[in-house]
Amino acid sequence: MTRNVYLLNGPNLNLLGKREPEIYGSTTLSDVETNSATLAQELGLTLTALQSNHEGQLVDWIHDARDNAAAIVINPGAYTHTSIAILDALSAFEGPVIEVHISNVHTREAFRHHSYVSQRADGIIVGCGVQGYDLALRRVAGMLD
Ligand code: DQA
Repeated sequence: MTRNVYLLNGPNLNLLGKREPEIYGSTTLSDVETNSATLAQELGLTLTALQSNHEGQLVDWIHDARDNAAAIVINPGAYTHTSIAILDALSAFEGPVIEVHISNVHTREAFRHHSYVSQRADGIIVGCGVQGYDLALRRVAGMLD
């Protein structure tokens, strides 16, 4: 619990590496989760990696994190731009929260420019590709030290 990190990915990120590779690259979610677990170990963290296409499931996992995680790294996918429920759940979590977006949402459609989650996030990593997950874990490790 003290050094466990929940790595949460939202809708359509199960298709990472297969959907719109020109935007999201060719690395799969499975690769991201494996690499993140390896990096977490190097940083003295443990990792619980979860993905769902369902808003309520993500909310439930964020509630679980209250008892099981010291920090959350989350890419909420399209729920970033719509979900007050995910914002509220994150607001009920006391540890560090880092928001990750693989693409640079600010150079894309206007509806991607607003994030509800950013209101709660302690840090936001945007447009760094899947390396953003590594950067987020490094930041979390620093915050927990
Ligand atoms: C995303 C950006 C969102 O706008 C989009 O809906 C996604 C992925 C990203 O990682 O760049 O599904 O969160």
